[in-house]
Amino acid sequence: MIGDTALRVVEMDSQLEGFLNLLGEAERAGGRILHELTEQASSLELREMLKKVGHDEGYYASELSAHVRRLGGTPSTKTGDFVEKVRAVADFRGRLDLLNRGQRWVIRKIEENSATVRDPHLGAFLAVMADGHRVNIGALEDALKKGLA
Ligand SMILES: [Fe+2]
Repeated sequence: MIGDTALRVVEMDSQLEGFLNLLGEAERAGGRILHELTEQASSLELREMLKKVGHDEGYYASELSAHVRRLGGTPSTKTGDFVEKVRAVADFRGRLDLLNRGQRWVIRKIEENSATVRDPHLGAFLAVMADGHRVNIGALEDALKKGLA
């Protein structure tokens, strides 16, 4: 009985663990594809912007792993299939549009799940992560409006 209770304390809610690992895999995929897109950008300004967005993705991926570990779960080391999806798009502009669609998906997932997050540190992190995605989506949209590609 005591062992059972102790187990429950250290065991992370599997739904939350699955959600955070899904986000982590998506961010890892985002970081990898952004590294490729950075090299494909012809304008230096867009290149710098994509590099920064890619660093953000890497930061979110590592923070998500840290939260999973802190809450008693096992962080996923997988990379999401988003890398292949973006690579499959023939033109550079189309790849950027798909990137922003993927970033919007991340915001939607956070919004859908935020009510079930009880840990205040994780809740604050996810709110900042969603906001960071809004900023990066806007920055890319502005760059494309300016004609940078
Ligand atoms: Fe992302």
